[in-house]
Amino acid sequence: MAKKRVAILISGRGSNMAALIAAARAPDYPAEIVGVIANTPKAAGLETARAEGLRTAIVRLKDHADKAAADAAIEAQLEAWNIDLVCLAGFMRLLGPELCQRWQGRILNIHPALLPAFPGLDTHERVLAAGVTEHGCTVHFVTAGMDEGPIIGQAKVPVLAGDTPESLAARVLVEEHRLYPACLARVARGEIGMAGPTG
Ligand code: GRF
Repeated sequence: MAKKRVAILISGRGSNMAALIAAARAPDYPAEIVGVIANTPKAAGLETARAEGLRTAIVRLKDHADKAAADAAIEAQLEAWNIDLVCLAGFMRLLGPELCQRWQGRILNIHPALLPAFPGLDTHERVLAAGVTEHGCTVHFVTAGMDEGPIIGQAKVPVLAGDTPESLAARVLVEEHRLYPACLARVARGEIGMAGPTG
């Protein structure tokens, strides 16, 4: 089966992007990373992507009339690269309903919490404030709602006495870097879709 062509959208450091790039180096991995799009030239992950020899593009909201126009620019880039699947990896701008609809079942996101618990920002702080004993991360299909959409996979970590947001984030991040490549592989192989596992 031909490898699925993947674009990764980032806003920042891009450690999940790097984990996906590393996983895709394996000859039997079912997807290849074709390019990286950032919504800011300051995204540190762009440098990593360039060093990996990947194509990069920057689509800034402020260079476009509105969000729909910026989404259209992203869409055009995805088409130019002939992309099959999109991975959001720390992409901090909510994509509009049209783009989400068009890419339904083909666009994934990673969230640093066990959805549906703790959607939104500052998850590690909020987990500690809530006093729960279990935390983790979720890879899910993207729909128009923030951090909604069918769950592809989750990984759990314990919350330990004395944890700070930083120590907890670091423990979750290790799992993110394992979970995202595994979930992308399942989607790329057609083992799971918006309606759940296939076959
Ligand atoms: C990760 O914790 C991810 O789950 C969240 O934003 C963070 C991005 O980190 N959506 P990185 O840019 O992948 O290092």
